[in-house]
Amino acid sequence: MRNPVQLPLMMFVLCAVSQVVNGEQPIRCLPKEREALLQFKVAIVDEYGMLSSWSTPHCCQWEGIRCSNLTFHILSLDLHGDFYQYRYLSGEIHKSLMELPQLQYLNLTSNYFQHTHIPEFLGSLKNLKYLDLSSCGFEGKIPIQLGSLSHLKYLNLGWNDLEGSIPHQLGNLSQLQHLDLSYNHFEGNIPPQLGNLSQLHELYLKISDGGQWLPNLISLTHLSLEYVSNLNTSHTLLQVIAKLPKLRELSLVHCSLSDHFILSSMPAKFNFSSSLSVLDLRDNTFTSPTVFHWVSNITSILVELYLSGNHLEGSTSSDFDNVMNSLRHLDLSYNNFKARDLKSFSNICTLHSLYLSSNNLTEDLPSILGNLSSGCVRHSLQELHLSSNHITGTLPDISIFPYLKTLFIDGNQLSGTIPEGVKLPSTLEELTIGFN
Ligand SMILES: *[C@@H]1O[C@H](CO)[C@@H](O)[C@H](O)[C@H]1NC(C)=O
Ligand SMILES: *[C@@H]1O[C@H](CO)[C@@H](O)[C@H](O)[C@H]1NC(C)=O
Ligand SMILES: *[C@@H]1O[C@H](CO)[C@@H](O)[C@H](O)[C@H]1NC(C)=O
Ligand SMILES: *[C@@H]1O[C@H](CO)[C@@H](O)[C@H](O)[C@H]1NC(C)=O
Ligand SMILES: *[C@@H]1O[C@H](CO)[C@@H](O)[C@H](O)[C@H]1NC(C)=O
Ligand SMILES: *[C@@H]1O[C@H](CO)[C@@H](O)[C@H](O)[C@H]1NC(C)=O
Ligand SMILES: *[C@@H]1O[C@H](CO)[C@@H](O)[C@H](O)[C@H]1NC(C)=O
Ligand SMILES: *[C@@H]1O[C@H](CO)[C@@H](O)[C@H](O)[C@H]1NC(C)=O
Ligand SMILES: *[C@@H]1O[C@H](CO)[C@@H](O)[C@H](O)[C@H]1NC(C)=O
Repeated sequence: MRNPVQLPLMMFVLCAVSQVVNGEQPIRCLPKEREALLQFKVAIVDEYGMLSSWSTPHCCQWEGIRCSNLTFHILSLDLHGDFYQYRYLSGEIHKSLMELPQLQYLNLTSNYFQHTHIPEFLGSLKNLKYLDLSSCGFEGKIPIQLGSLSHLKYLNLGWNDLEGSIPHQLGNLSQLQHLDLSYNHFEGNIPPQLGNLSQLHELYLKISDGGQWLPNLISLTHLSLEYVSNLNTSHTLLQVIAKLPKLRELSLVHCSLSDHFILSSMPAKFNFSSSLSVLDLRDNTFTSPTVFHWVSNITSILVELYLSGNHLEGSTSSDFDNVMNSLRHLDLSYNNFKARDLKSFSNICTLHSLYLSSNNLTEDLPSILGNLSSGCVRHSLQELHLSSNHITGTLPDISIFPYLKTLFIDGNQLSGTIPEGVKLPSTLEELTIGFN
């Protein structure tokens, strides 16, 4: 026997079950939430028709929306744009989104909200776990209200025009695992409360202090501190970083690091020496291959090393190859290496890609490739970039690298004709040879 109260409930349950089973009947959406989305749509400028599906009755079917199968509440709103495909939103982010109380995921990255502020009302979406507002052109300060999103695991505000100081309230986001505040115009020191974010795995930030708040972040696996203007004046920050025990990826791009500095700052021990696998030191001021020895001292399991945009030249001693026995990717483009220096890299038996574009290679290609192939790298190399050097000679037998997939030798001074029947590796997918 059913009473009138049970009947609708029964139908509700059956209906939900049937959707899960045959997946044909669309999930209905809650009228109040549908209304909120339509209000949002009216306020936003959608030049490229990203929201063109937003008119049918079943809002859970609309593009970018995901609802709960059980409660029908909207859980996820993925409205990321794409500048390259001319697909982005602009205009106003209407506060009707506050009517989506169960929202857990909001992704608005790569839209165009220039000259607007990050809406304060986002702080009332208490169930948010993921908030991606990167590359949106937002101006102004970070609203302190974001500090009350206590379930937040992921916060990306990178690549905007935000300014002012970073609110200490962000230190309250105790569940936060990923925080990206890079590429903005913040001023002042980092609030020490960020040191309370004990769950933090990934941190991308520009800092101007000594990082005294960093030591507690012992869960960090990814740390990026690009454009730290004073990293080269004080050793304390590097000492602090050296103590992080779980670091897997460290990026210190454009930090004015020099040979002298790293040698004089050598901490006794790097706690991440058995975890660090990606090290990015692009756009610093290293000149001598000492940096390779330093790198091999601080980690024994390095897989990717980026050193482009320094002033490196010269050969490393032979133990570099011996120590680097897991290195797969080595980026040395935009340096001053000469062909004779390449011997140092010919015995890294794990190396897949070697980038040497825009260096000072002036010798002939047959000799360069001949010398490089004299070591075991011959059997591992898949990608070789030699563009924009001053390499002379003609195209030799390239099949000496039997697994090569990509060879860039454009922008050099190669001459002559390409010999008929020149041997290429059977794996070769890409060969650029123009501008010679
Ligand atoms: C909801 O349904 C979809 C598709 O039928 C399914 O992939 C998903 O796992 C379901 N989610 C829950 C929470 O039951
Ligand atoms: C947001 O969308 C972009 C583009 O699809 C994606 O790369 C990014 O990982 C998304 N952010 C989150 C938190 O999922
Ligand atoms: C931050 O957390 C503390 C306690 O952990 C609490 O007293 C305070 O109200 C919180 N602040 C905000 C802005 O949520
Ligand atoms: C957060 O950090 C501040 C400053 O470092 C500290 O005084 C405070 O006790 C911390 N709060 C919690 C809840 O850990
Ligand atoms: C640190 O880097 C800045 C900017 O590149 C430079 O002007 C300064 O001389 C460097 N200081 C030291 C101690 O190397
Ligand atoms: C880092 O290593 C030192 C020894 O060099 C040790 O005393 C310290 O406890 C380690 N720190 C962490 C956070 O593991
Ligand atoms: C590498 O470590 C050894 C032993 O700790 C030390 O003697 C040497 O100076 C270090 N070399 C560099 C370049 O950091
Ligand atoms: C390139 O090498 C030549 C010598 O072969 C040298 O004269 C020149 O200064 C080098 N260029 C750079 C930018 O190091
Ligand atoms: C190749 O190696 C030989 C012997 O080590 C050396 O004499 C020659 O200069 C090298 N050529 C290039 C282009 O590095």
